[in-house]
Amino acid sequence: MSDSNVDRDPGSGIRDPKIAELIAAARAAREHACADFSRFKVGAALETIDGAIVTGCNVENATYGLTVCAERIALFKALSEGHRKFRRIVVVAPPDAPTPPCGPCRQLLWEFAGDIEVILANLHGETGRHTIGELLPQPFDARLLK
Ligand code: THU
Repeated sequence: MSDSNVDRDPGSGIRDPKIAELIAAARAAREHACADFSRFKVGAALETIDGAIVTGCNVENATYGLTVCAERIALFKALSEGHRKFRRIVVVAPPDAPTPPCGPCRQLLWEFAGDIEVILANLHGETGRHTIGELLPQPFDARLLK
């Protein structure tokens, strides 16, 4: 059984109730996406170390370039609410293929959340599982500024 299947039960979907809760939260957040330009709605649910869930959706505007991804909205919301330690993030996007975070989101998740688990899902279920360390090998971070 591959890693991406460890919490799956073919009969009843996602077996780990916390992951099911995170996917549901990311799906619900996705409904708030401001994606008039790409029409590509994304939702994210970031779990703090104590089990709180902070969600985000992508926010686009007419300049295009000021777009902020769902992952960064969730991260910045969480930081602004005082959270500093995180366990994992779930990202929900429409494609059948796994849709992993973009480069800037990987960088910020690495710097503020560390080597957390990244669970990818679409509207039907989980599509992939990684760590930030796998997605951002050899990262630049504050340790190198000393
Ligand atoms: N997007 C996210 O919110 N997260 C991702 O992981 C990939 C891309 C958003 C940015 C933009 O609003 C739209 O999806 C298309 O790129």
